[in-house]
Parts: sequence; structure tokens; C-alpha cells
Amino acid sequence: MKIIKVNLGKRSYDIMIGKDILSNFDFTKLCSKKCAIITDSNTRKLYSENLENLLNSTGYDAKLLEFPAGEKSKTWEMAGKIGRKLAKEGFDRSSTIIAIGGGVTGDLAGFVASVYQRGIGFVQIPTTLLAHVDSSIGGKTGVDIPEGKNLLGTFHQPKAVIIDIKTLETLPEKEIRNGFAEIIKYGMISDKKLFSYLEANITSRPDGFYPHIIERSCRIKADIVEKDEREGELRKILNYGHTIGHAIEAYENFKISHGEAVALGMVYEAKIANILGFLDKDSLKRQNKLIKAAGLPTEYNFKNPDKIIEIMRKDKKSKDSRLYFALPEQIGKIKKENNKTALPVDEKTVLKSFYKI
Ligand SMILES: NC(=O)c1ccc[n+]([C@@H]2O[C@H](COP(=O)([O-])OP(=O)(O)OC[C@H]3O[C@@H](n4cnc5c(N)ncnc54)[C@H](O)[C@@H]3O)[C@@H](O)[C@H]2O)c1
Repeated sequence: MKIIKVNLGKRSYDIMIGKDILSNFDFTKLCSKKCAIITDSNTRKLYSENLENLLNSTGYDAKLLEFPAGEKSKTWEMAGKIGRKLAKEGFDRSSTIIAIGGGVTGDLAGFVASVYQRGIGFVQIPTTLLAHVDSSIGGKTGVDIPEGKNLLGTFHQPKAVIIDIKTLETLPEKEIRNGFAEIIKYGMISDKKLFSYLEANITSRPDGFYPHIIERSCRIKADIVEKDEREGELRKILNYGHTIGHAIEAYENFKISHGEAVALGMVYEAKIANILGFLDKDSLKRQNKLIKAAGLPTEYNFKNPDKIIEIMRKDKKSKDSRLYFALPEQIGKIKKENNKTALPVDEKTVLKSFYKI
């Protein structure tokens, strides 16, 4: 088992990565006797019932709480329902929540853990590639409201993140691709070696491929979170591809996947970087070739570009009606100006990036 430490003083925790580590995992020190396993309707049968049996056969009092799979469950109302169930079942401040599932489960269960009785401990057991490398690390929790995604949220670090790579065996290819988009992003923003490794291996996916890219990605995210836990400045580099990506996702009413939207976001944000003279054309082409090799889209038909701009303006990442972007200056490096990583870009330049150069 590989352990990556996230150093955050009293809130430090380990990310444990291994294959088939869940079937006999020792939860001593991580979990109170009374614990709630929060799971969605897909992961329940696949992993959560086994976990419940494991815990209950080793002296724990574990209760499974299921919600319907999908982003539509990541709501304030669902958080309230789970909170009420916890209260009815007599969970108290010393209890632990275990979130087992994808990013939706982690965000929702983490949110509940952060507010239930003013905050209780929680453990993340991510089961999608996206959750392995991104959402389970860093302590961002949240739920959606009709006015926007993740608009109600907290920072609440988990006590541990347990990544069992075996969970990828049941994950549909479409979900694997969602994870690839974030991993390509890590390559672009901070690790040219990871980027080259992906270029060489993303199609063949040889033995050791997933452990390598997951470990590397977790290390990158952990390093960024350690330096900037609450998204002061540095953590904003993680938004690469997400400003335009989120706008496309919202415009399409979430009918395209998050990974596809982020991939498109990276394509057009890299174009902005190229137009501004930061990123050379060869690097832009290499990025897009890798995105394509990962099975993700590299072209989007902007039917209503002004609407996309309007969505971005309303996004919580925009300030004073200017659009802010984390932009690469080369593969593996984000451009900084006066120590700022989110740079203002005028809307004309953004619009220009939507069309072929
Ligand atoms: N907190 C953060 O820092 C952060 C970062 C990125 C994304 N997110 C959030 O993460 C969410 C997306 O996460 P996601 O892509 O994991 O979505 P998800 O949780 O909806 O999982 C995707 C689908 O895969 C199923 N699934 C999960 N594990 C499986 C497995 N091992 N085998 C088969 N099916 C499995 C789920 O039931 C679901 O249907 C979004 O809500 C996003 O806002 C949060």
C-alpha cells in the first residue's frame, strides 16, 4: 500500500492507495464504533454492503444510508434528509461518516459531516477515477442549488482517503474518461513528466498505469492543497479548463459529462493562452492530441457564444465582470503574473478562442 501524506497541521491525513485493500481494511484509529456508511444506489451493492459486513463483523456498529445515484441527489434537501436519519439513529459528535462512492457521494457526505452537530469526522473511500484523483482530496464539500452547482459548501478535511484501485474494474469507460480529463489537467498545470507518461500509455494502459497516474495526481493535488488549503491563490490553478468547461456544462444542461466539458475547457483555455502569447502552438497541439487519445472531445460547436460568456460572468470565479483564467505557459506550468495564477482576460479574447485560429 502506498501512503501519501497531506500535511495540514492538526488536519493532516493519509491518502492510502492500493489494489484490493478494502476487503480487509483495518479501520482502527480512523473510525468510531458507531459509524454511518453513506453510499449511492449503484455503489451500495458493488462495495458498500461488503464494507458494512466487514465493519459489523469486526466490532463496529455500522449503518448503511443510501441515496439515489447521480448529481440530482447532491442537494440541500438530500443533505437534510441524511442529517435527519443520522439524528433519528442516535449518531452523535463522536460518530464517523464513511463516504463510499464517486464525487457526488464524497461531496454530499462530506457536507453532512461538516455540519452535523457542528462537524463530525469522515473518511473518504472514492470509487471513481475522478474521485480517486480529485474530489476526495482537499476537503471541499458541497451541494447544488437551482442557482448553481456547489454554491452551498464547506471546507472539511477527511480523516483519511482510502483508494482501492480495484474499484475501477466495475467503472464504465465513460467514467474513466471523466477522470482522465482531470489527470491530463494535472499534467498541464504542474507535471510535464506525467503528461509525457500519459502520451505514451493512455491508449495501451499497461500494468501499473492506473497506480502510477493515481499516485502522481494525488501527490500533485496534496501539494497544492497543503500550500493553499482554502483557495487563496495557488489552488486556483486547479481551475484550468474549468471556467469554460463549467459554462459549457451548464449551457448544455449537464447533458455532456464533466470530463468532456473540462476537456473542451482545456482546449479553449489553451487557445486563449496561445492567443495571449503564453503557450506555443506545438504544446497546444500536444495537449489536444492527448485529450483525443483519452477519448475526449476537442471541438465544440458554440451555438450561442454570448450565452457562454454570460454564464462565465455569473460564475463564482469571475470578479468585477472580468473573466479570470489559470492559463498554461508551457506543458507542466501555469503562467503567473505578480504571483497571481488567475489572470484577467478581456471577453473579446475569450470569444476569439471559440473559433478556429
Ligand atoms: N470536492 C471537490 O474538490 C470536487 C472536485 C471535483 C469534482 N467534484 C464533484 O464530484 C462530482 C462528480 O463525481 P463523479 O464523476 O465521481 O460522479 P458520481 O459520484 O456521480 O459517479 C459517477 C457514476 O459512477 C457510479 N459509480 C461510482 N463508483 C463506481 C464503481 N466503482 N463502479 C461502477 N459505478 C460506479 C456512480 O453511482 C455514478 O452513477 C460532481 O458533483 C463534482 O462537483 C468535487
